[in-house]
Amino acid sequence: MSRHKMIDRLLVFGVAAVLLGFSATPVLPQGRGQGASAAPAGPWMDKSLSPDQRADLVIAQMTLDEKIQLVHGGQGGFGAPGGAQAQPNRSNGGAGWIPGIPRLGIPDINMADSAVGVTRGAAMGRYSTLLPSTLGLAASWDLQAAHLFGSVIGRELRDQGYNMSIGGGVDLTREPRNGRNFEYAGEDPILAGKTVGQLMKGIQDQHIMGDLKHYALNDQETGRNIGNVILDKRSMRETDLLAFEVAYRESQAAGVMCSYNKVNGDYACENDYLLNQALKKGFGFRGWVLSDWGGTHSTAKAAMNGLDQEMPGSTYFGDALKKAVESGEVPMSRLNDMVHRILRSMFAVGVIDDPPARQVPDVFRNLDAAQHIAEECIVVLRNANNQLPLNAAATKSIAVIGGHSDVGVPSGGGSAQVNAPGGNAVPPPPRPAGTTPGAGARGGMGGNPTYFPSSPLKAIRAQAPNAKVEYNEGTDPAAAASLAKSSQVAIVFVVQPMAEGRDAATLSLPGDQDALVSAVAAANPHTIVVVESGGPVSMPWADNVSAILEAWYPGIGGAPAIANILFGIVNPSAKLPVTFAKSEQDLPHPEIPGMSLMAQAAAARGAADAAGAGRGGRGGLPPFDISYTEGLKVGYKWFEAENKQPLFPFGFGLSYTSYAYSGLKASVSGRDVTVTFSVKNTGKRAGAEVAQVYASLPASTGEPPKRLVAWERVQLAAGESKTVTLRLDPLFLSIFNVDKDAWELVPGDYKLLVGGSSQSAPLTQTMKIGGER
Ligand code: BGC
Repeated sequence: MSRHKMIDRLLVFGVAAVLLGFSATPVLPQGRGQGASAAPAGPWMDKSLSPDQRADLVIAQMTLDEKIQLVHGGQGGFGAPGGAQAQPNRSNGGAGWIPGIPRLGIPDINMADSAVGVTRGAAMGRYSTLLPSTLGLAASWDLQAAHLFGSVIGRELRDQGYNMSIGGGVDLTREPRNGRNFEYAGEDPILAGKTVGQLMKGIQDQHIMGDLKHYALNDQETGRNIGNVILDKRSMRETDLLAFEVAYRESQAAGVMCSYNKVNGDYACENDYLLNQALKKGFGFRGWVLSDWGGTHSTAKAAMNGLDQEMPGSTYFGDALKKAVESGEVPMSRLNDMVHRILRSMFAVGVIDDPPARQVPDVFRNLDAAQHIAEECIVVLRNANNQLPLNAAATKSIAVIGGHSDVGVPSGGGSAQVNAPGGNAVPPPPRPAGTTPGAGARGGMGGNPTYFPSSPLKAIRAQAPNAKVEYNEGTDPAAAASLAKSSQVAIVFVVQPMAEGRDAATLSLPGDQDALVSAVAAANPHTIVVVESGGPVSMPWADNVSAILEAWYPGIGGAPAIANILFGIVNPSAKLPVTFAKSEQDLPHPEIPGMSLMAQAAAARGAADAAGAGRGGRGGLPPFDISYTEGLKVGYKWFEAENKQPLFPFGFGLSYTSYAYSGLKASVSGRDVTVTFSVKNTGKRAGAEVAQVYASLPASTGEPPKRLVAWERVQLAAGESKTVTLRLDPLFLSIFNVDKDAWELVPGDYKLLVGGSSQSAPLTQTMKIGGER
């Protein structure tokens, strides 16, 4: 281990130890449910019974009040009645808390937001590892990395006494300016579904329940509480809902969190089609549906249309639901179904048989995982004249510019915000006297981004000990250009901070960062740009710089990972999980639906209200439609169907070596299709190639030009060749037939395209597929 890495680790560990030591006694709740789960030896504790049998045995013992208690949050979750903050004296301090039933040995459910690490550490005095953004994880196309990502979160949830994660975001990047894209896994339903599915499996394999969210079509934050998404059923099932279906199939997630928005006229949390028809009947979902925080709008309608649990409070599913059950408006059988779904999930995942035990997280092991995943998620988008990797011995001077890269890396804001060890490395300006923290208190929602203490400047210095490495903060392009001019190489860090509750109005980097890059590039022909963004950004300067790295939000291991890619210690292998458009004019919606409406209303009422409109409130605005007229054409499917050339296509990413493809063969037997081809590393370095298989469906299906159907991340030594054999999942070749309410593999000619990106297919072959299942 390098000295620098050791120091970084000690720093992290030191902070963690102090935080943990400080917090040990006061914040550990033992009184209710979880702490008091000295389980009575009820027959449901017999592990040889199925989770469903065990749940039913418990239900047979439960009173009506106990059943009602399980289907809504207690007064200890975030935003619950009784206070805006979680109440650590009652719950474990996370976003959600459902008191258990000690007399039956049913523990409390303690939920923590944990999209990219366990949140609310600051309030609870606990350390959590910040992983790369989920979008970054998707760029690795590495399902083992996804499982590892989930394992880190699962382990830390256990260590902190939680038994449920409410991460698991898998909404598609239908809207590249969506403020929460960093919590999601890109624009392709299969890549996103598999990535988040494995992530969730990683969590649940630690005996921590997980959920998938936000179901469904919560693809923008603008007007998220009042927007009514209009989309036909086939498009829904084949795009956004397919991502959830695949993620559930991979993970058997305990929960699905329904979203704030309406879909085709009904709120997602009381939407019969979404919840009963598609999720429970269509996907075979056996867990429970919990509402997003404040996303429940009715009692009987929501209960009958598929919602199983109101979060975080009890407005509709407390006394009101009890009365509805007593009057028969909601049958007892439906209440039993809600409770059954919750209890069977607790048994199935193991939170009753193997409850969490608090201990100091293994900071070192989790830091290693965070750095490893970051190294797999950084995409090299441009490398003119083999600017990269940098040769440490031959580089005498480096200008490092902008993005607070002297102190840290940015992270995403909102409910996914992990607290930085030691506080924000770039402290925000002091709040004016007399103002309240507001939504920003919840981790940058509408506030300043939080930077984690992983310093790219230090990591670059460590890699190039003989070079003069100087820093310029980048606020004055002329000063930055002057430092760049006198340096051999210039590395500019640009940042796009994003957070829950608001979208970016444009794809442009905020502030003067485009001008900064252009000024530096004009001064130094060896300019490298490192982009740390929540999602895709436009890059008007792309042709004028030597190299571009997309590092997303790279997490606590970000700085050494970036340096390892810059200096070639790690050969980049990541590929884009989203299309980068040249400008918003090329998107299906040049302006985000409702954006100007919201902006006008916010201007009329003042900014504080606007933040309220982003979270639970509606900001007094009228509902508006979000018509996804692009239908099936999400991301690359739109660009290809419309013949628009993006800045960088889906699936694209460079390596420091090169690969050649050969020998494509497809064999079809009924619905089974197996594809074989070879990939050779034709360069001088070992590397991993993400080999992608796309399919064009028969013209009669009316599908976009092609879709991703399989991939493999192939590790190859220099000169090595490997044969890849992939079985294509019939679901991924199918269309959704709305009349039959079923997936259908349409007979006809399917063209396979195999290569290193959605726009590079050195191998193609057409095959005939016979008939239906
Ligand atoms: C977010 C959810 C989050 C919940 C609890 C909501 O505002 O949309 O993603 O899990 O709050 O913090």
